[in-house]
Amino acid sequence: MYEAVKNLHSYWAYLVLLILIVAVANALIKTFGDKEYEAKDFRISLFTLIVSHLQLLIGLVLYFVSPRFQVFSELGMGGVMKDAVNRLYLVEHPLVNIIAIALITIGYSKHKKKLTSNAKLKTIAVFYTLALVLLLSRIPWNTWLG
Ligand code: HEM
Repeated sequence: MYEAVKNLHSYWAYLVLLILIVAVANALIKTFGDKEYEAKDFRISLFTLIVSHLQLLIGLVLYFVSPRFQVFSELGMGGVMKDAVNRLYLVEHPLVNIIAIALITIGYSKHKKKLTSNAKLKTIAVFYTLALVLLLSRIPWNTWLG
């Protein structure tokens, strides 16, 4: 169970990063180029929302089935916070990524309510860029790519 969920979370992360980078680049290029908002832009931002929400669900399951979770009962909250690796997996990565996905959700719903092309694209550009920066800041790169 643990291995399967971990692998899924690990591979799904490629999809999340890929689609988020595409959405950010697309929104930035079209915002600065003063381009029209089209059906394609809507589909990219919606797809990013769905893919990232699925990662959130997979991540939540992984959190509780991972053997890392038992470190809480072994070391306590103080012990977890004192160790950089445990803190990253059990506190920083989940918390910061939940905030990032919340930003994607807020950006998505705000952009839908805007009335002009530029306002829609700018909203996606700002919120999705912030989310991308947060995600990149808290990925456990060593174990993922190593
Ligand atoms: C879009 C958001 C997220 C991305 C891109 C992401 C990506 C990743 C990556 C690349 C790893 C390393 C996998 C490996 O070592 O093979 C990982 C590990 C992990 N993630 Fe996420 N994650 C996200 C959200 C979350 C959330 C919201 C939670 C929990 C609520 C979570 C919980 C975990 C846990 C517990 C691990 C460590 C698993 C272990 O080594 O036992 N992730 N994540």
